[in-house]
Amino acid sequence: MRLILLGPPGVGKGTQAKLLSNYFSIPTISTGDVLREAVKNQTSLGIQAKVKMDAGELVSDELVNHIVDEYIQTIDIAKGFILDGYPRNVMQAEYLEKALANLGAEINFVLDYQLDEGTLIKRLSGRRTCSNTNEILNIYYSPKEKIESCIKNGGELIQRDDDHEETIRNRLVVYRSETLPVSNYYLSNGKLIAVFSEKDVHSVFESTLKSLSR
Ligand code: AP5
Repeated sequence: MRLILLGPPGVGKGTQAKLLSNYFSIPTISTGDVLREAVKNQTSLGIQAKVKMDAGELVSDELVNHIVDEYIQTIDIAKGFILDGYPRNVMQAEYLEKALANLGAEINFVLDYQLDEGTLIKRLSGRRTCSNTNEILNIYYSPKEKIESCIKNGGELIQRDDDHEETIRNRLVVYRSETLPVSNYYLSNGKLIAVFSEKDVHSVFESTLKSLSR
């Protein structure tokens, strides 16, 4: 199964990608995670990407296409994979289609997660990563015991640099102008599946599996 997870910042793509990856035993790549790791390690990719990421803008197509291109050469694409956060504009979608066609493959489904803007902002402003376990938590939605256990075990709750209000608002603007057209791109070739993401994590996962089995 070759899947793309689309949707606005904070809709839960990363959360669902992990569950789907375990369920189908297929690897997942998040271009956002790859870029954040590069920023942390101050590689040349990270240095080029940081200014854009901090502003909530998209990193250049050239850089992200290269990341995905290298990735799909290293995995068994016949078995399947999940792309989280890529493609993010129509140029990237066209690039991906050609790169996969060169390998004799294509995307099977595009899961387009949807949520109202107020809840997106709450999820993003409440997101924290536990420094000990790297688990993504949320001060508004995660069970209290999980938050307390992170702190009790000496962990810190780290907020992402781009999860501050002004940057969140710009990421949503960029999503509407650049990424929404990607939904139409996949709608027109019959691959798009809309999934509503307002319920809890496991209910959204169940809806996702149901949509895929239709
Ligand atoms: P990226 O890391 O991809 O960020 P994003 O798309 O903005 O998405 P997020 O990671 O913020 O949210 P998510 O949908 O994964 O939600 P999550 O599961 O964490 O990209 C960051 C930056 O990198 C971009 O701005 C850009 O600069 C650059 N970039 C990346 N890819 C690029 C590309 N292809 N082209 C160019 N630039 C690129 O959930 C959010 C929170 O909600 C968490 O706290 C979670 O615990 C909680 N939560 C999740 N689901 C639920 C639920 N059902 N109920 C309650 N809480 C929930």
